[in-house]
Amino acid sequence: MEKLSGKTALVTGAAGGLGSTIAAELAQRGVKVLLTDLQEERLEKVASTIEGARFVQHDVTNEVSWQHAIEAAMQNFGGLDIVVNNAGVAVFSLLENLSLEKFQFMQRVCLDGAFLGTKWGIQTMRPGGLAGKGGCIINISSLAGIVGSVGLGGYSAAKGGVRLLTKAAAIECAHLRHGIRVNSIHPAVVKGGFGDTVFSDMVKAGLVPDEATAEAALNSFHPMGLGEPEDVADGVCYVASAKWMNGAELVLDGGASAQ
Ligand SMILES: NC(=O)c1ccc[n+]([C@@H]2O[C@H](COP(=O)([O-])OP(=O)(O)OC[C@H]3O[C@@H](n4cnc5c(N)ncnc54)[C@H](O)[C@@H]3O)[C@@H](O)[C@H]2O)c1
Repeated sequence: MEKLSGKTALVTGAAGGLGSTIAAELAQRGVKVLLTDLQEERLEKVASTIEGARFVQHDVTNEVSWQHAIEAAMQNFGGLDIVVNNAGVAVFSLLENLSLEKFQFMQRVCLDGAFLGTKWGIQTMRPGGLAGKGGCIINISSLAGIVGSVGLGGYSAAKGGVRLLTKAAAIECAHLRHGIRVNSIHPAVVKGGFGDTVFSDMVKAGLVPDEATAEAALNSFHPMGLGEPEDVADGVCYVASAKWMNGAELVLDGGASAQ
């Protein structure tokens, strides 16, 4: 296992939910963390609770904004070793009711965002790049990026794209001897982040008649219960330190997809 202590990470979508827990867990293990998100006020509050953390406002769908985020990492920490592409959005809807606008919104944030984060991560960490010492890129996909589920078709399209983008980037970096590993993580439903509103979202989308039914359905799908943000954060730390892991998909679902 590679030591994480002393490394530098950029975590997107870190103003709350899973991103803030991932950033805090990396910091616990001695990583210097740059938190990024659209929501600057929330970002500032979260950063103030994490030792040594810095933050910068960042739109993952915008290439100029990526350039600024990378510059912030270099200015604050003088390097970059880990990029966690965590920012994402989900809209629950049957495909027959999903507007093209909402479909494209999910592709933009989840897939374009992960693409730009992967691209800028490679450019920055590869030999000759601004940081130049290799590193790792971790793309937070979803179990919905591996299997389909009712009401999440647009989200699955985006997260499935993230899964194969990850594999392509992994093999490209390996062949080019960049010293950069690229992996994806696939959580099922996690309490925290938009997992907190999943029951009401399912009702609003007309998928179930009430929240109790939504809860019963999700509990039955997850034999070990829903996940916690810490479960995903632990996974990120493992992947960041697993030096022979590349192009892999870490499924975190308490066995949900094993049935
Ligand atoms: N919570 C779950 O159950 C769950 C399950 C599987 C996968 N995920 C994935 O985990 C990641 C984090 O999700 P979460 O549950 O913490 O959601 P969340 O909504 O709490 O956090 C997402 C963050 O992304 C930020 N964001 C949105 N658009 C952005 C943009 N254009 N640029 C920068 N930041 C932007 C938001 O401001 C927010 O802080 C997402 O990629 C999500 O798809 C979540």
